Amino acid sequence: MAKKSSYLDNMVGVGDMVLLDPLTDESLLSNLKKRFNNNDIYTYIGSVVISINPYMMLPIYSLEKINAYRSCNLYELSPHIYAIADEAYRSLRDRDKDQCVLITGESGSGKTEASKLVMSYIAAVCGKGAEVNQVKEQLLQSNPVLEAFGNAKTVRNDNSSRFGKYMDIEFDFKGDPLGGVVSNYLLEKSRVVKRLKGERNFHIFYQLLAGGSPDLLKHLKVLPDCNHYTYLNTDTTTLNGVNDATNFTAIKTAMEVIGFSNAEVDSIMETVAVVLKLGNITLKSEFQTTGMERCYIDDTKVLSEICSLIGLNQSILNQALCSRTVEAKGDKVMTTLSVAQGNYARDALAKNLYDRLFNWLVNRINESIQVKGKIQKKVMGVLDIYGFEILEDNNFEQFVINYCNEKLQQIFIELTLKEEQEEYVREGIEWTQIKYFDNAIICDLIENSKKGILAMLDEECLRPGPVTEFTFLKKLNQVFSSHQHFESKETMNSKFITDTTLTDSCFRVQHYAGRVTYNVTEFLDKNNDLLYRDLSKAMWQAKHKLIKSLFSEGNPSKTLLKRPPTAGSQFKTSVGILMKNLLVKNPNYIRCIKPNDTKSPNKFVDELVQSQVWYLGLMENVRVRRAGYAYRHPYKPCLQRYKMLCKQTWPNWKGNDRDGVRALLTELNIPLEEYAFGQTKIFIKNPRTLFDLEDRRRIQMEFLATLIQKTYRGWKCRTHFLLMKKSQIVISARFRGYNQQKKYKRLKQATIVLQACTRGWKVRKTQRDLREEKRRAEAATIIAAYWHGYQVRKRNRKYFKSNASKTIRNFIMSSIIQKYFLGLKKTLPSMSPTDKKWPALPYRFLENTHQQLKMIFYLWKCKKYREGISNQRKMELEEKLYASELFKDKKASYASSVPQPFKGQYLDAQRKAKYQKLANGIEGKLLMMDTAMKINRKDGKHSPRILMMTNNYFALADAKSAQIKTLIKMNEIKSISMSECKDGLFALHIVENSSVGVKGDLLLNSDHLVELTTKLHRSILDTTQQRINLEIQDELSLKFNKTTVSVKFVKTTGKNGNIPVCKKKNSHLLEVQVP
Ligand SMILES: Nc1ncnc2c1ncn2[C@@H]1O[C@H](COP(=O)(O)OP(=O)(O)OP(=O)(O)O)[C@@H](O)[C@H]1O
Ligand SMILES: [Mg+2]
Repeated sequence: MAKKSSYLDNMVGVGDMVLLDPLTDESLLSNLKKRFNNNDIYTYIGSVVISINPYMMLPIYSLEKINAYRSCNLYELSPHIYAIADEAYRSLRDRDKDQCVLITGESGSGKTEASKLVMSYIAAVCGKGAEVNQVKEQLLQSNPVLEAFGNAKTVRNDNSSRFGKYMDIEFDFKGDPLGGVVSNYLLEKSRVVKRLKGERNFHIFYQLLAGGSPDLLKHLKVLPDCNHYTYLNTDTTTLNGVNDATNFTAIKTAMEVIGFSNAEVDSIMETVAVVLKLGNITLKSEFQTTGMERCYIDDTKVLSEICSLIGLNQSILNQALCSRTVEAKGDKVMTTLSVAQGNYARDALAKNLYDRLFNWLVNRINESIQVKGKIQKKVMGVLDIYGFEILEDNNFEQFVINYCNEKLQQIFIELTLKEEQEEYVREGIEWTQIKYFDNAIICDLIENSKKGILAMLDEECLRPGPVTEFTFLKKLNQVFSSHQHFESKETMNSKFITDTTLTDSCFRVQHYAGRVTYNVTEFLDKNNDLLYRDLSKAMWQAKHKLIKSLFSEGNPSKTLLKRPPTAGSQFKTSVGILMKNLLVKNPNYIRCIKPNDTKSPNKFVDELVQSQVWYLGLMENVRVRRAGYAYRHPYKPCLQRYKMLCKQTWPNWKGNDRDGVRALLTELNIPLEEYAFGQTKIFIKNPRTLFDLEDRRRIQMEFLATLIQKTYRGWKCRTHFLLMKKSQIVISARFRGYNQQKKYKRLKQATIVLQACTRGWKVRKTQRDLREEKRRAEAATIIAAYWHGYQVRKRNRKYFKSNASKTIRNFIMSSIIQKYFLGLKKTLPSMSPTDKKWPALPYRFLENTHQQLKMIFYLWKCKKYREGISNQRKMELEEKLYASELFKDKKASYASSVPQPFKGQYLDAQRKAKYQKLANGIEGKLLMMDTAMKINRKDGKHSPRILMMTNNYFALADAKSAQIKTLIKMNEIKSISMSECKDGLFALHIVENSSVGVKGDLLLNSDHLVELTTKLHRSILDTTQQRINLEIQDELSLKFNKTTVSVKFVKTTGKNGNIPVCKKKNSHLLEVQVP
């Protein structure tokens, strides 16, 4: 086992003053001093820690230190605040006992620092995890925020708590923090408007001005200069070694961590700015016509800034600050205020506003850190309340602060001195009483509900008629004329006559910690804590949500029936609740001592420390501790807790609990002087014995836990094994079944395949045999047939003719030819002579026949066609044939003339008498009558003519007069010529020596050139039996009046259609443009 260390090793003085020898005031003080000079600021009295403020940073709060004190017993390491924090935390976690850490001492003795050390230690040692860390952070970060708003520099402490704080930290069963609740006690709000010389207002004002961003300050319309503000305008605005600007940033971050929204932070800063600005409202005085004084705000700039910040009509606040509504016999009357009253009202508003803001802030922090939902919780309370104060001028605030400290001292006395001694007597333990000062008498002097100072103050405040501080003091003098702890000028006996500190307006209380003289001026006002309703009404009308909510009583729909409780009675009630709360918890004490009044390190002022040692009752504490027992426990839970350490008591003790504990302690060989048996409890002298018991218990518990674990693990493994075994059987059964099934299926499948193969093979074999048999039978039949044939042929050979084969062949041929003709008959093509189709050749040997038949059929088809046409048609076709011979492949217009029938008569001679007459005038059968153009050979111009042709004559007549102009006999025409183009121009070359031939050749144009020239050529052949020349070429030569004229054809894309355009180029050349 590792060697246990002890704080006794290398100890300077004694770490626990129980060990002091001899025990005197001097030895106690010198022990504290010796240790303090060695920077050992912590000393024990049993489990109470005495802490002396070192006023410097000591290297004893590191993480290593925290780890060292973690889960260590109180006496293992040198005294430290961490040891008591650890003890409290472990009692809470392991013994399920709610704890409270009571930190007491006078102002500046280090209470707040101690409370922060306790909280940070607990935060470091308790559970971890994202959620837990967030809770811890929120709890820790609530400190700087509350300190900024509730702490201030005083003459005794640069960071003096000006409010009382009690924080319940709530844990779950594992000891992980769940959240917390902060309770605050009476903020010293008078500081907002008034302070002693050398003191500061609350930190936040300075922090805002120093650290607020330019934008924020601009928005709040505040200047970063403390001297500009009446409420801050004192000789001290800065703190040594403290940077307000940095702290402001830290507070904003802390607020963010706690969960304040940006809008909330802005609202808070706006409210702080409003408080500051209120101080700058200056009131001036004027006299009304009635002769009454009236105050008014001369410069309304600040007022308008306030109103614009909080969204309020300026006139409402102006009126509320300068006047007051008084109700007299049911009527409301507005009265003006004097400057003094106005200033009082303004300051009251500023104080109230700040105080309410502070309360709101605490509630808001609680909202964030409170545990949501109903969970069973263990609670550790940390109390850091303002320390005992003795100032030059003590007022109402000091009175209540000191009252609170008096109550805490009472708790200390109750639990450590009085209750302890009473318990020894009650339990029948041998005990010699130790004297101590019981401050119950002072508490009663203050809080007695009928005759206490607070009760009388309330009575005076509520009493109708003229009441002043002096009537109050008079009353006190009467009631406490003979009270040991109350003094005043009137009750003074002769020994105080020379005491000038006790004036007419003062009374003095002999507190446990010293005599304090209180000045009664403002006691009534401060206790009343009145704010004119006009002001709360005005503030309620503001649009600023936060401020409006702070003054809910200003809502006109709310009628205040009851007077609000006075500040004194409120404080008394909350202190009462606090005390009740503390009494149900296991207390852990940290008693703080201030070594000097100058906040200097390494300075130990004997007198100052001695007085604190006296009034804190440390000496009595040591004495009780030395004579008494460190630990007591009722028998039953004690036996329950340690029964595992002894074989007789484990697992169950059959006899009574007291005997059980006795058997246990005897078996553990604990010396008899270390314990005593009370009526109901066992008392253990030395904490070391208890810690020894605890250590043994821890080891035994570990052993038992291992045993339980072992048994449980064995049981679990066995159960698991059995289950596995059972499962294994099921699995293997299933698996085997499955395997067999698979094997069977495979066998079955294989059998089927084998069967199929065998059957197939058998069938194929049978089939093969059958086929063989069949083939044999067929072969036998064929052989038989051949044999029979041979036999028959042999037998009938003598009957065969020599040309039998020819006959057979002819027969076959004829049948094929028959089939061919019949097939041809069915597939004959149509009767159209143009249809040249012919069925395909079915037999190659009939190829010639097939071609001939095709020819015959075609000729026959043509014959049939010819026989079918009329004479008229025949003549027409003959004419067409004649035309073909003349023009085919020579003249371009021929192709278009082929489908046109040769009508001959284009002018209807039957109908028009004119044409009739003209026709009759010419001899012979009329072959053609048409219009034509005669081309004038001189100029190439056209002139229309009627053209007529009989088998004897060719005539041209004037188109209008129908007079014959030219009449030519057929035999007078020598030749005809024309171009190869599509035009209708032609020349008739006339025999020169004829009657018409004198004039020369004729140049004509006809739309029916092919028909005309065909008919003309044929007629000439018929009449003269001569084939005249038909010249088709691109250049013609004409005779005209003995001169030869050349006609040249030029191809154009003519605009005149088929009508040629003749242009005479010169006397020998005529150019004709043809299409
Ligand atoms: N353990 C410590 N180590 C170093 N300095 C300390 C310690 N305790 C206190 N101080 C110093 O003493 C100053 C005053 O301490 P603290 O504010 O805790 O006093 P307090 O008892 O809370 O006073 P008040 O009753 O006025 O609030 C601290 O600001 C710090 O400078
Ligand atoms: Mg403090």
